[in-house]
Amino acid sequence: MDHFNYRDGELYAEDVSVSSIAERFGTPAYVYSRAAIEQHYKAYDDVLKGRKLLVCYAVKANSNLAVLNVLARLGAGFDIVSAGELERVLRAGGDASKVVFSGVGKQEWEMRRALEVGVRCFNVESDTELDRLNAVAGELGVKAPVSLRVNPDVDAGTHPYISTGLKENKFGIDITEAPAVYARAATLPNLDIQGVDCHIGSQLISVSPFMDALDRVLALVDELARSGIHIRHLDMGGGLGVTYHDEQPPKPSDYVRALHERIGDRKLELVLEPGRSIAANAGILITRVEFLKCTEHRNFAIIDAAMNDLIRPALYSAWQAIVPVQPHLDAEEKVWDLVGPVCETGDFLGKDRPLRLNAGDLLAVRSAGAYGFVMSSNYNTRNRPPELMVDGDQVHVVRRRETIQDQLAPENCLPE
Ligand code: LLP
Repeated sequence: MDHFNYRDGELYAEDVSVSSIAERFGTPAYVYSRAAIEQHYKAYDDVLKGRKLLVCYAVKANSNLAVLNVLARLGAGFDIVSAGELERVLRAGGDASKVVFSGVGKQEWEMRRALEVGVRCFNVESDTELDRLNAVAGELGVKAPVSLRVNPDVDAGTHPYISTGLKENKFGIDITEAPAVYARAATLPNLDIQGVDCHIGSQLISVSPFMDALDRVLALVDELARSGIHIRHLDMGGGLGVTYHDEQPPKPSDYVRALHERIGDRKLELVLEPGRSIAANAGILITRVEFLKCTEHRNFAIIDAAMNDLIRPALYSAWQAIVPVQPHLDAEEKVWDLVGPVCETGDFLGKDRPLRLNAGDLLAVRSAGAYGFVMSSNYNTRNRPPELMVDGDQVHVVRRRETIQDQLAPENCLPE
């Protein structure tokens, strides 16, 4: 259940017809469902008895303040990768003591801010980052809570751009080197070793790579314990996949239970960093067909959303369902390429889609709640779309449509 369903022959977002949203707010527009976000979060949070679990939503997936606020109200933690994301979490009412700070390139000012507000843990990705964090914490006279992000060298079996757990990736510390790095971390006076962290990739549709990674990480935890370093939490990162097409990813509850069982009687709190599995199927991108252009070779439907609004198809050849908002039989079914107005051949949201289309029709790109708006840009000086959140029969503007004035405001011509 993702709360975008057909009712009386047209697409609804919860209790609001998508066509009425398009009428009121224009297109293109992102539309999120509060109920879906809540349901997807609870799918993780409500399941575990007998072990502490902290679900740190990966802010990068969708960082709109209202999305973060909905999750903060449920008591969520947050996984951030920049000081900017930290400020969003704080603004949205998130609890700093439930924030984990990931990322390979944390700057000193970002570390300082995170220490000032008291984040739960830094997921440290290199030996040199340890020294930087130790120095910044020393200046502030505090101890920085750390986990090392280890790279367990497992193949997540996902797209190469979003696979992160292999040796050749830039992420984490080679698991074979981790004991030595932990031993050194233990000698640094301003660090407090809390946990171990890994994240092996995104859009995983089977639990087995997670279990392989977990086995390697648990072996490390046991080895560290023997050398007197006691790990209190285990952060397995994010990565659980969603259904874009016909993928059948594991249910969060089954995944969490499998982790719990494999960890066994070790006294470890579990931390997870899901992004996509909470946000993706809680959002759609609505767009209108501007022109139909049938050539000898292809049929193009030129829509008002483009690669700058949703870059996943262009960047990863990602497939997202594109469905009519008001299905009709008034046109012959043809196979369409759905392309935007941007001046690039790669500007498409879908290819080879059988649809009955007339100019002016509304379409919804599904599964657009994660890595959608957050990866949008102003390429071709296009205003970014608004973000709207449906809550029952209400629609809230949670980010207004950008204007040309917004875009030009930071820029200047040279002096006369
Ligand atoms: N934790 C860390 C350290 C991560 O790097 C990521 C995602 C997550 C958690 C959340 O992973 P998720 O549960 O969302 O899979 N732009 C790409 C996805 C990039 C994911 C990057 N890291 C896409 O549109 O498919």
